[in-house]
Amino acid sequence: MNEALGEPLVAGLPFTGPWLLAPMEGVTDPTFRDVVLALHRPADLGGAFTEFVRVVDRPKLEREFRKHLGERRWAMPVGVQLMGRHLDALAASACTAVQAGAPLVDLNFGCPAKGALAGCAGSALLKEPRAVEEVVRVCVDAVRGAVPVTAKIRAGFDHARGVEDLARAVEAGGAAMLTIHCRTKQELYQPEVDWTRIERAVNATSLPVCGNGSALVHGDLERMRRATGCRFVMVGRGALGDPWVFSGKQVTPARAARFLLAYVDAIIATGRLGEHAAASRSKQLFRYWTAGELVKSEDERRSWLRMQDPVEFIERLRTVATAANPSERSLHERPAAVRT
Ligand SMILES: Cc1cc2nc3c(=O)[nH]c(=O)nc-3n(C[C@H](O)[C@H](O)[C@H](O)COP(=O)(O)O)c2cc1C
Repeated sequence: MNEALGEPLVAGLPFTGPWLLAPMEGVTDPTFRDVVLALHRPADLGGAFTEFVRVVDRPKLEREFRKHLGERRWAMPVGVQLMGRHLDALAASACTAVQAGAPLVDLNFGCPAKGALAGCAGSALLKEPRAVEEVVRVCVDAVRGAVPVTAKIRAGFDHARGVEDLARAVEAGGAAMLTIHCRTKQELYQPEVDWTRIERAVNATSLPVCGNGSALVHGDLERMRRATGCRFVMVGRGALGDPWVFSGKQVTPARAARFLLAYVDAIIATGRLGEHAAASRSKQLFRYWTAGELVKSEDERRSWLRMQDPVEFIERLRTVATAANPSERSLHERPAAVRT
């Protein structure tokens, strides 16, 4: 197996490297994923996911999955994530996602949002390992081995005592990988995390496990892997603050500003949002931003976040970007994309 050539790291899973970009609703749409994937070699960023696609009681249409998958294809796989409780609708949606080109179907058992809980989906299912197993099994059966089906859980609903049972339920359902976000639903996104819960999931199953939860800087990725024995590590908010977190590349302020400008341009190029909304989306990343010393203090962070005028925001980014050495490009920045 050769990670550098983008070959799978673990048999049966399409990921080309051990570090994965987390699904994040409202953020990891095709536009954001593309600008992040373009920064990396397949060995550094091994795959990504769509934000969750909520399945209520009717199967989703192929065109909806195509929209979530986007037009570009990469050496790294982008899995479609489904969230729901309605078995028939989920099974049919999983098949449709495969028809739309998904190389992997992931199932969400972690969303803490009220809407998910009201529909007994997402983290609501963490109270019932049997239901988790059932959802996984119908999707695995439905896709008939065409693609792997994986599951993403939290460590529990209001406590983590049942993490082993949840991990075993995912395995019993036939999943090809378990991702565990080590916070419980009750813990939402609290800063403290307990990675031993990931280790417990690793020890409870023979599945490849993907650990998740506050892997914030590049060094945390290997640290989590060593501490817990997980095969993969998924990064959420750390990647919103530093899109280079997967390679550990240190960038200049100018390079960081160029990334944020490229993101604005890419959003506008979709034709769906104008300059104001595009600048606002890019600006939202300043809530987490750590790369390139663009944000040296919390006051500076606030000063970026307070900017209301998109033209001024873009101008401020341009000023930083053009303070660059124009020749600074590296192999890591070469896009790994192939157009289909
Ligand atoms: C804005 C936002 C949206 C999210 N949307 C999803 C989602 O669609 N599906 C999912 O499984 N998890 C979702 N999550 C959870 C992340 O995938 C991840 O599990 C969580 O942020 C913990 O990882 P981190 O500590 O590296 O951020 C979301 C998190 C954030 C911050």
